[in-house]
Amino acid sequence: MTTAPNLMSESKRLAAQKALDYLEDDMIVGVGTGSTVAYFIDALAAWKHRIRGAVSSSEQSSARLKANGIEVLDLNVSGPLLLYVDGADECDPHKRLIKGGGGALTREKIIAQASERFVCIIDASKQVPILGNFPLPVEVIPMARSLVARAILAATGGQPVWREGVVTDNGNWILDIHNLRIVDPVKLETELNQIPGVVSVGLFARRPADIVIVGGEPVRVL
Ligand code: A5P
Repeated sequence: MTTAPNLMSESKRLAAQKALDYLEDDMIVGVGTGSTVAYFIDALAAWKHRIRGAVSSSEQSSARLKANGIEVLDLNVSGPLLLYVDGADECDPHKRLIKGGGGALTREKIIAQASERFVCIIDASKQVPILGNFPLPVEVIPMARSLVARAILAATGGQPVWREGVVTDNGNWILDIHNLRIVDPVKLETELNQIPGVVSVGLFARRPADIVIVGGEPVRVL
């Protein structure tokens, strides 16, 4: 689906606003990364005296949280979270996702795993029947880049492309796998996770979203 840029921004803002419904007093909120989450962080500022703080999935989101007066906490200190709010690059009808377009997939995956409820905020352009049109990000240890790329090519037939010049917050590199049609996302996520040198895979199928909010008029909650 193609959407005009200003309509898309408004859809993202509306989805982010709706995610405030899932906040509870005194909670620590897991916060993702990306342009949709940026709207959520700005909206969260109105709640800053009611929540204990946030666990952030990226340096980018941490900076925005702090600029909004929201304390950023360490996941090791917070322990399990009740709520994680994050965007996605693609979302299928089973709430399985491709994430990592912004390069924050590993910390996003850690926080999603630590959270009881994962609320995913998207605009309608992210909804797909089958994942894979968006190139699948894979974070790799730098020395393993070509090893992992060859293994991905052999295992999937997809084309791994090095996101050259990008270094993740964890000091690693990213391969984006093009030309995939992911009919069994749980299987692919499991297989790719086994390749030595893979830090994490931007498929959120083993731990999908629990709730998906699609911004627009009207906002839809799936
Ligand atoms: C960040 O690494 C990604 O997982 C984002 O959640 C994803 O790219 C969505 O970003 P936008 O909200 O900017 O579309």
